Amino acid sequence: MKRIFTLTMLLSILIIGFLKIDSTTNNALAQEKGMVPGNTLGIKSDADLWRYIRTGKAGSTQMKDELASVMIQSEGDNWRALRNGPLSFYGAVGLAGIIGLLAVFFFVRGRIRVDSGMSGKTILRFGTIDRFAHWLMAGSFVLLALTGLNLMYGKYILLPVLGPEIFSSMTIGGKYIHNFLAFGFMAGLALSFLLWVKHNFPTKVDWEWIKLGGGIFKAGVHPPARKFNAGQKIIFWITMLGGLSISMSGIALMFPFTTSMMSDTFAILNVFGFGLPTDLSPMQEQQYNQIWHVIVSLVLIVMIIAHIYIGSIGMEGAIDAMNTGEVDRNWAKEHHGLWVKEEDEKSGIKPAE
Ligand code: HEM
Repeated sequence: MKRIFTLTMLLSILIIGFLKIDSTTNNALAQEKGMVPGNTLGIKSDADLWRYIRTGKAGSTQMKDELASVMIQSEGDNWRALRNGPLSFYGAVGLAGIIGLLAVFFFVRGRIRVDSGMSGKTILRFGTIDRFAHWLMAGSFVLLALTGLNLMYGKYILLPVLGPEIFSSMTIGGKYIHNFLAFGFMAGLALSFLLWVKHNFPTKVDWEWIKLGGGIFKAGVHPPARKFNAGQKIIFWITMLGGLSISMSGIALMFPFTTSMMSDTFAILNVFGFGLPTDLSPMQEQQYNQIWHVIVSLVLIVMIIAHIYIGSIGMEGAIDAMNTGEVDRNWAKEHHGLWVKEEDEKSGIKPAE
């Protein structure tokens, strides 16, 4: 009896030892060579299971949050690669490109002067409400652009200079500025639209202006224009449509997982044969929104840098329109001749005056 007991004990120790060695080797093989550990013949290997999780499939959970059933969202890798790769790169190229182009333009063409000299007489171009709308839209846009660019490029440019503490406080503050000023921008955008849309429909005169390159490349060339010339009309429409689009994608980013604007837009585009995905998960909605928000913002920022240049140092007398609202009559005649005629007719001023 004693012998049988000792034999059984020895056998058990041997079997346990063997199993231990086997499972260790198997685990190692599973990690290194993709083998199923334990030589089990289950319906799913670890590799299959992890592949399932890795590609962003949802499992089941007791938690109320619908995103909680997804352990890994693999589209996140693509989103990050696109955001930190081509999007950041081409955005930086666009920003550096426009600044370089404007610098070259300034050195070659110089400041666009009033050819006939300042007359000393003025004409009202924008009233108080117009200027309020412009500066509400412009001021908030500039701060939104700066805080937004910090989110995109700050970690490369400012973080190494300022250090993590200052950069982190600055970025958190910037995020609040960004979120709250967005509403100021939307209000300014809507007001500017209502005030100026009537002056911004295309007319035949615009074509003349475009054919003469707006007269910006050569002194003494003054193509016809009413209140807004063709270039300003283009800026107006890009600002309005781009501004609306950034506002909508921005709201979707502020209130995450509550909208389906991207899949709805893709469904409309698919009518024209685009073949875009329409069964987007709430997380994918956010990622597409973010990418679109950045693309439109960068396009607008690049365009607005050119607008700020021409509205300030690039053209003599232009800033007065948004400063006091009164512009020199000679400036107005050279850049908006048809508008001056219309205004003079309204107020009974004869053409020679
Ligand atoms: C921050 C510096 C800015 C300056 C110095 C500036 C200057 C000006 C000036 C002088 C005008 C009137 C032009 C005229 O009399 O015909 C104007 C118009 C306008 N501005 Fe600005 N602006 C600035 C920023 C912005 C921003 C950030 C936006 C949009 C987000 C914007 C949008 C517009 C629009 C839509 C118009 C009417 C169309 C046009 O003239 O192009 N501006 N701006």
